[in-house]
Amino acid sequence: MTKKTSNTMWGGRFAAGPDAIMEAINASIGFDQRMASQDIEGSRAHAAMLAATGIITDSDAEAIREGLLTVLSEIEGGTFQFSTALEDIHMNVESRLKEIIGEPAGRLHTGRSRNDQVATDFKLWVRDQFDAAEAGLIALIQALLGQAEAGADWVMPGFTHLQTAQPVTWGHHMMAYVEMFGRDLSRVRDARKRMNESPLGAAALAGTSFPIDRHMTAEALGFDRPSANSLDAVSDRDFALDFLSVASITAMHLSRFAEELVIWSSAQFRFVTLSDRFSTGSSIMPQKKNPDAAELIRAKVGRIYGANTGLMIVMKGLPLAYSKDMQEDKEQVFDAADSWMLAMAAMEGMVKDMTANCDSLKAAAGSGFSTATDLADWLVRVLGMPFRDAHHVTGTLVALAESKGCDLPDLTLEDMKSAHENITAEVFDVLGVQNSVDSRMSYGGTAPAQVRIQVQRWKDILK
Ligand code: ARG
Repeated sequence: MTKKTSNTMWGGRFAAGPDAIMEAINASIGFDQRMASQDIEGSRAHAAMLAATGIITDSDAEAIREGLLTVLSEIEGGTFQFSTALEDIHMNVESRLKEIIGEPAGRLHTGRSRNDQVATDFKLWVRDQFDAAEAGLIALIQALLGQAEAGADWVMPGFTHLQTAQPVTWGHHMMAYVEMFGRDLSRVRDARKRMNESPLGAAALAGTSFPIDRHMTAEALGFDRPSANSLDAVSDRDFALDFLSVASITAMHLSRFAEELVIWSSAQFRFVTLSDRFSTGSSIMPQKKNPDAAELIRAKVGRIYGANTGLMIVMKGLPLAYSKDMQEDKEQVFDAADSWMLAMAAMEGMVKDMTANCDSLKAAAGSGFSTATDLADWLVRVLGMPFRDAHHVTGTLVALAESKGCDLPDLTLEDMKSAHENITAEVFDVLGVQNSVDSRMSYGGTAPAQVRIQVQRWKDILK
């Protein structure tokens, strides 16, 4: 058994120090040192407020301010000695501050607790990540807009059930992802706005009897206002869950796109060529060029969902207010944030660099009877047939083409007339893929003109 002296920060009532196992399970310094700069920022705002309200003297506040800057430079310079015995970033910083400035350091913790301190630090950290996510999403959307603009009229097959459905344009497909990531962007902004309330000054759980000014610290830290209920302030981790849910939905979008890139870059599809910069080779098969970045993006989603589910479970049974369970919030959010930012950057790079193989896209667009719906629509429009009958007639023509081993435009007029005697040669005009996509001019449709309208709309939005 380790015999240790009790903790200098809270050990007044303790006769003995913690068991080594206790210290190991209790400490968070191994990971919460990532919040060092946020911790120091929060402490500086708190100290300035304590002086402004006359709770501590100006000279003590100045000593604290200078000392905290020294601590920050030690941490940034890599010379800071983190101690597990001091549990977490908050006590590591305060203890070092005491070594540097002596007695005034002990006044810093007036009118606050580690409970509001950790909530504040973590919020500041997550808020930075929301900002990083916003920038990452905008960059990704811009890369997609570049592809969409270049290929507004490149035809490719559109799929349902991954079976050829109708021809679409490359630009239209890219713009579908712009819509998805655009919703993610609005979710990020929404969540960031909602979370921007300061927990600092909620103290342990009940507020404090010191005449603190929570509005002042909130403003200094860039929050919109102080949170309105001290119990909620110290026990709320919704902001982290909002972060993880937005991350999860974005990751799902990233993964769907990554899956398409894996399929599209295969020798069987050849829809796209990924750049060498975002591919890898095989150590045994010289011909291989693997879409590893896309596969890893697809896989990162697992970690992000895991973090989301994990934190939901940590939080779900906790009575108000703070419980130590909540220390388990950080690692998962750190890991999810790293995975999310990296996946977005990798996707942006891949999208910017990839080349659409227009010939393969076009050939695929015309195969698989992709203009069957255009044929049925023609029967409705020109011959006045009810759509259900037109659908049936077209079906018999598809079966005929299949039996002859050709596509719809390869059928003869006699073939067409065998299905319905009123069909004329004009029908062949609608069986071409370019014609097909050009005709889909409904708002939000795949026609190149519609795609260009949407590209412009997004450019204006992001201006
Ligand atoms: N390391 C703790 C955490 O991450 C800080 C808050 C500790 N508060 C307490 N009363 N033990 O949650």
